[in-house]
Amino acid sequence: MRDHLIFWLNGVRREVRGGDAFLMLSEYLRGRLGLAGTKIMCAEGDCGACTVLVAEPRAGERPRYLPIDSCIRFLFQLDGCHVVTVDGLAKDGSLAAVQQAMVDCHGSQCGFCTPGFVMALVGGCHAMAQGQDLDWRKELSGNLCRCTGYVSIFEAAERAATAPDWLATRFADDAWIHEGVRLRRESLDLRGEQDGGPMRVSSPASLAEALEERRGPEPRVVAGATDLGVLWNKGILRPRHWLDLARIPTLQGLEIEESAAGRTLVAGPLATWTDCLAICGAECPEFVPILEAFGGPQIRHVGTLGGNIINGSPIADSLPLLFTMEATLELASAAGTRQVPIDEFYKGYKQLDLAADELLVRVRMPLPAPADLLRLIKVSRRRDLDISTFTAAILIRRDAERIAAARIAYGGVGPTVMRMRAAEQALVGRPFTEETFRHAGEVAAGEIRPLTDVRGTADYRLQLARNVLLKCYHEQMVAAG
Ligand SMILES: Cc1cc2nc3c(=O)[nH]c(=O)nc-3n(C[C@H](O)[C@H](O)[C@H](O)COP(=O)(O)OP(=O)(O)OC[C@H]3O[C@@H](n4cnc5c(N)ncnc54)[C@H](O)[C@@H]3O)c2cc1C
Ligand code: FES
Ligand code: FES
Repeated sequence: MRDHLIFWLNGVRREVRGGDAFLMLSEYLRGRLGLAGTKIMCAEGDCGACTVLVAEPRAGERPRYLPIDSCIRFLFQLDGCHVVTVDGLAKDGSLAAVQQAMVDCHGSQCGFCTPGFVMALVGGCHAMAQGQDLDWRKELSGNLCRCTGYVSIFEAAERAATAPDWLATRFADDAWIHEGVRLRRESLDLRGEQDGGPMRVSSPASLAEALEERRGPEPRVVAGATDLGVLWNKGILRPRHWLDLARIPTLQGLEIEESAAGRTLVAGPLATWTDCLAICGAECPEFVPILEAFGGPQIRHVGTLGGNIINGSPIADSLPLLFTMEATLELASAAGTRQVPIDEFYKGYKQLDLAADELLVRVRMPLPAPADLLRLIKVSRRRDLDISTFTAAILIRRDAERIAAARIAYGGVGPTVMRMRAAEQALVGRPFTEETFRHAGEVAAGEIRPLTDVRGTADYRLQLARNVLLKCYHEQMVAAG
């Protein structure tokens, strides 16, 4: 069991002991190392000013540097990884091609957002050099600029994208990967002091160890920390003991299971939104626009499916789909495992059917059949990087002109995401007509009592509850020609 943290920063190996392992990466860079290039503005993952690049070591593979928000990444989460910051880009006195392009295209005014944009751009150019198709508008959706505007930044992106991959030349030495892979296989137990009290993080390498640890006096589980990191920064949550799941291989990845009943997506709870995007293009394309609007790239690279499910927000963007496809959650404790249908898992606002010693270890989601009509809807005030006001998933199975089966789930209309059972009944057995969907919309509105909050009024949400069913009908009629 290792008692200290090892990672690489701008090509230099570092060991960290004691309380510093519990700092956010951005605080460590600025406060401990004096690397002030990385800026902290919102400290909530919303603006991208603190963007750095992180590569996890993968045996036999070239490193893949991904942009993440360093303000909501605990240092202990970086064990075995290589972190590149804006301070580490210049080589022999020369700026990186992206930095030079930002200068040449006048991509910066006050400069607060600039290091974050530079890192997101360097990461984007790196991804393109590795053969990935990239849309700069989407790639930069996790970075906000409030004074320069985006046109000159996009110009800089286009110009820099023609240059060779800067990271491949600046950090050509991949020797760290070998040691990094070994480090990621070791269990960690780090202890230190912070805020005048003891801190501990257990990061076991196996599920059995994690379940054993979970039996202790309530360590707080951490996955990507995109929810927890915000709560930590706001001082809302201050656990003294973290249980980090990141190095347990069986909790990672996604695959498709085939059976007589159809195809099922089987996901480890640590599957990130980037992992989900990679598989959903082929397996569940309706989910892709929802995923592309999920946070920004910095959030999607680390935020996980399991974290979204357990955080249990009534506006969590994965839940309407999981409810509609009747996903099952596998929960494990040292005593054994059990399967829970997702719509029985939420008992009230953030009240879960999850015992203190249990972990979510697997998610099984049947995929829609080819003839199914599946519509997923996210309504938010802004297109990118915004929390939903209202969400919906609608699945319709037709038998010629009649509706043979219907499943509907709404989010943002109550304390949990809800299956709209009465509206479903109003559809089944009826003809596929505008009148049927209009009536089902009225029934759906009668099933909910939404609240008014900063994101929308109760009346607005009731209107959405009616109209999304009509929208689903009309879109289908247009698609059918
Ligand atoms: C800027 C920003 C934008 C965001 N945008 C969106 C968005 O568009 N849509 C949306 O739905 N959400 C959004 N989120 C919320 C968040 O990113 C997601 O909920 C994400 O999926 C959480 O995953 P995580 O791994 O980061 O969870 P963490 O923060 O690590 O954990 C979340 C909760 O789950 C628990 N937990 C995690 N894994 C397990 C497990 N296996 N077993 C038991 N408990 C577990 C943790 O203890 C914690 O209570 C956003 C957050 C930020 C900061
Ligand atoms: S400081 Fe805004 S995302 Fe980190
Ligand atoms: S240059 Fe001022 S916020 Fe972007």
